Formats: sequence, C-alpha cells, structure tokens
Amino acid sequence: MKKISLIAAVGSNGELGYNNDLIWHLKEDMKFFRQTTINHPIVMGRKTFESLPHLLPNRKHLVISHQDILNPEVKTFHSKEEIDAYLDKLNEEVFVIGGSSIYKMFILEALKIYLTEIKDQREADVYFPDFNKEEYIKKTLLEVQEKNIYYTINQYTKRRVLCKEK
Ligand SMILES: NC(=O)c1ccc[n+]([C@@H]2O[C@H](COP(=O)([O-])OP(=O)(O)OC[C@H]3O[C@@H](n4cnc5c(N)ncnc54)[C@H](OP(=O)(O)O)[C@@H]3O)[C@@H](O)[C@H]2O)c1
Repeated sequence: MKKISLIAAVGSNGELGYNNDLIWHLKEDMKFFRQTTINHPIVMGRKTFESLPHLLPNRKHLVISHQDILNPEVKTFHSKEEIDAYLDKLNEEVFVIGGSSIYKMFILEALKIYLTEIKDQREADVYFPDFNKEEYIKKTLLEVQEKNIYYTINQYTKRRVLCKEK
C-alpha cells in the first residue's frame, strides 16, 4: 500500500519558490528535512531535481518528467500512472519533496503532511496547494526563531489513518 507523505516549507500565503529556487534557506528546517527523509525514497518533479545542489545522500531519487533524466542514480517516471505502479509495490513511507506540480499531484493521497509554516510573505511564482485542514490532526513538532524569521514545523496526519491505528 502506498504511504505518501508530503514535506514542504511555505510562507504565510503558501509561497514555495521563486525563479526555480527556494525562497528561504533555514538551518533548522533543512536539518528537519534531512532527519525526516533520510533512508526513504523521495519523489520530485524535474524542476525541483534540477534545483538541487547535489544528489541527497541515502535517499532514492524518483523524478517525474516527460524526458529521460540521464543520471544513473535517478529513476525517472514519465507519468503519474507509471510512478503509482512503482509506489504501490513499496511498503515504506515515501516523501514527496516538490515542487508545486508534484505536491498537487499527490496531495489528495497524502497520509501525512510535514509543513514548515514560515511567518513571512515574499514574492513567489509557485505555491503549495490548498488542502482541507479539517481532514487532518495538526501536531506542532518544532517552533523556531532563526535570525528574524519565526516558523513552526507541523505534522498533519489524516484523521482516517489515526482511526485505523487505534
Ligand atoms: N518550499 C519548498 O518546500 C519547496 C520544495 C520543492 C520545490 N520548491 C520550489 O518549487 C519550484 C519548482 O516547482 P514546479 O512546480 O515549478 O516544478 P516541479 O514540480 O519541481 O517540476 C515540474 C516538472 O515535473 C514534470 N511533470 C510534472 N507533471 C508531470 C506529469 N504529469 N507527467 C510527467 N512529468 C511531469 C515536468 O517535467 P518535464 O518538463 O521534464 O517534462 C514538469 O516540468 C522551485 O522554485 C523550487 O525551489 C519548493
């Protein structure tokens, strides 16, 4: 069964990125991202893949693109159907790490959403999709004041998953 988690950092208006780059580079958030995703497969769109400074260690990179990514460390999928067939066979938590188009693709299936919510507003050209927060239980994992930026790292868990776990 697919176990999809989304992980993202957003501004007060859901800002995700600008000019194919991140808007904020926050130390504690980066640390949380690494700790949470390490040793899990990560799913991303081709643009996010190209925006990474390097391959992220100890994580299998699953990239969605209409093209073939010529990198032996990366597995490319050409459609949602293609990656779904692959993910259906995995029995482990998979992290969708962006960008906007790939969050939209998976948001309705997300059992967990790890959302760093930054109290700041910036110019952006991509946004995190709206989701129904009523369907999730929110747990704040971390509150951080970094330089002049305040943010919280929140875990949203789908209510029906919590019911099944009882
Ligand atoms: N704040 C955060 O947490 C966070 C996290 C990740 C990314 N970001 C930001 O998000 C931005 C990138 O997001 P984005 O939405 O522009 O791009 P993206 O989702 O990273 O990648 C888009 C690409 O994915 C491929 N794709 C999408 N849907 C597909 C489908 N149905 N079938 C096959 N391929 C498909 C296409 O690649 P091809 O064109 O190759 O076909 C498309 O151009 C950047 O600014 C990045 O820094 C922010």
